[in-house]
Amino acid sequence: MSDKVYDVPSQWAQKAYVDDAHYKSMYAASVNDPNAFWGEHGKRIDWFTPYTKVKNTSYDPGHVSIKWFEDGVTNVAYNCVDRHLETRGDQVAIIWEGDSPDESRKITYRELSSEVNKLANVLRNRGVEKGDRVTIYLPMIPEAAFAMLACARLGAIHSIVFGGFSPDSLGGRIADCGSKVVITADEGLRGGRKVPLKANVDAAVNQIEGGVDHVIVVRRTGGKVDMTPGRDVYYDEAAAMVTDECPAEPMNAEDPLFILYTSGSTGKPKGVLHTTGGYLVYASMTHQYVFDYHPGDIYWCTADVGWVTGHSYIVYGPLANGATTLMFEGIPNYPSVSRFWDVIDKHQVSIFYTAPTAIRSLMQAGEEPVKKTSRASLRLLGSVGEPINPEAWEWYYRVVGEERCPIVDTWWQTETGGILITPLPGATKLKPGSATRPFFGVQPEVVDAAGGVLEGACEGNLVIADSWPGQMRTVYGDHERFEQTYFATYPGKYFTGDGCRRDADGFYWITGRVDDVINVSGHRMGTAEVESALVAHPKVSEAAVVGFPHDIKGQGIYAYVTLMDGEEPTEELRKELVAWVRREIGPIASPDLIQFAPGLPKTRSGKIMRRILRKIAEDQFDSLGDTSTLADPGVVEDLISNRQNKR
Ligand code: PRX
Repeated sequence: MSDKVYDVPSQWAQKAYVDDAHYKSMYAASVNDPNAFWGEHGKRIDWFTPYTKVKNTSYDPGHVSIKWFEDGVTNVAYNCVDRHLETRGDQVAIIWEGDSPDESRKITYRELSSEVNKLANVLRNRGVEKGDRVTIYLPMIPEAAFAMLACARLGAIHSIVFGGFSPDSLGGRIADCGSKVVITADEGLRGGRKVPLKANVDAAVNQIEGGVDHVIVVRRTGGKVDMTPGRDVYYDEAAAMVTDECPAEPMNAEDPLFILYTSGSTGKPKGVLHTTGGYLVYASMTHQYVFDYHPGDIYWCTADVGWVTGHSYIVYGPLANGATTLMFEGIPNYPSVSRFWDVIDKHQVSIFYTAPTAIRSLMQAGEEPVKKTSRASLRLLGSVGEPINPEAWEWYYRVVGEERCPIVDTWWQTETGGILITPLPGATKLKPGSATRPFFGVQPEVVDAAGGVLEGACEGNLVIADSWPGQMRTVYGDHERFEQTYFATYPGKYFTGDGCRRDADGFYWITGRVDDVINVSGHRMGTAEVESALVAHPKVSEAAVVGFPHDIKGQGIYAYVTLMDGEEPTEELRKELVAWVRREIGPIASPDLIQFAPGLPKTRSGKIMRRILRKIAEDQFDSLGDTSTLADPGVVEDLISNRQNKR
């Protein structure tokens, strides 16, 4: 923790949308009368039929139901594209920067309209209708945004699967939501390396009973791929057959917009469902206020559209606001560690939003690769995805932003749809490592283990006391799981799964997950998923996975593995298990350390005591706590003496 405080520069207080006094009055209005507040701000998007009802939400156990603007009718693609055509048709909507610095493209709102309509017609010709699910497995190319908006235009529900997931993970997600159409590319390109996306789709679809009806393949690299006649079509060939006019489907505010799978502490990833009206109002409003977005800004969020940050803050929020949003295909260190800063100069980026893990890895290369670039266009920096350590914060502030650019450390989740706790750059003083204060309409509370609400400066678990428009509505196909996961721990409140501290100024400091979810390079993972991948290996009898502090990734993956009787714990097997997990889930789930453990610490009833495993992985051997309830206290000694170290 750092005790430094950076006051709001007076220029920012004057020029930003809100200063501190304004924040306080707007915040009070938003929580005192949510109906009046959101009734007004809901008008920021265009409605085909205006809503007459605003908030209708219940967190009551057994009856959790979340509806916003429920009788309004609109269309997300209409709001992100059509409504801008008259005033800013020739303005650039998307700047695309390719993996190679030699490739970039600018797409105006008028061109975006034409592309989205064409893609929508290609889908429509293949029978896609309102309510159908479409899986998108694309690299960071403009077609990813076109595909999202094309689905939204038709009222189809998209489910994007990050290109780093394996065929198994992709197949599970296609099957879970019953998609009959998949949009992919021949290959992706990242850091000069090719990713076999179409081949992965083939492998995924082969596992699914009944397969899928259509696979639409965007040509990215031109690499040769297998095409199944009757099922697969190249996008450019299909697009050549259609017009660029497709009507926008009238959608009720509560009609689904997308499903996005995310990891929880138990079981398979959950299909987080977001709907139309409230989501778009919230994404666009947070994008405007948190980033103090003004017309003329060039805005760049480095996330992948496979994650929620890409949904809300590359595509929906910025485009709803008529912004120019930059989409980057590559990685921070290719072809050099100056790439981010080079791109900022090349496209005159003014607002830059990235993840702590990227900052920490670039920090390692020193200041020179940053300082040799200008970055004079920058005026605001943002951070998202995991707690930012004060050292990384200071480096970002001092070296990248030259002490000129406020940093908005934005806390939120796939489930929340948009940013919930964050500074507003003209209103909030900054404390490195703190996400600071709630956005309008957000009511955080800190509770103790028993659910008692803590007051003043305190530390405990973070819950949100009431709904906001961007909140997820359900787990796709499993409302019971939605209630159990988020509303059962502290009945009547949304439980975030995060721990946090509130200081005497009322600022929030997120301390990380308190459940069995880990955050590896800003990628969220359930330890249970990695465990089930490990135990699926024929030589593994049992596995327990925990996070451990990692300098670059934030958290690394530490796996304790018990082998089947007679199996030898060799270095070769260790490598085989890492490769196995990569294949089962994807490279982002590769264990960093595997410890072969003849026994795991279990209670007499057979429950693994993860607390002990976590402490060992964190090298905190002195604070293992009470081990007297273990069936065999001897295993702890063995685990400690064989603790794996970072290599
Ligand atoms: O633990 C919190 C962490 O990321 C989790 C949500 O992950 P995901 O759903 O993948 O969404 C990431 C992008 C919004 C949270 O429960 N997290 C996210 N942002 C921050 C954060 N932790 C601390 N500070 C943040 N700014």
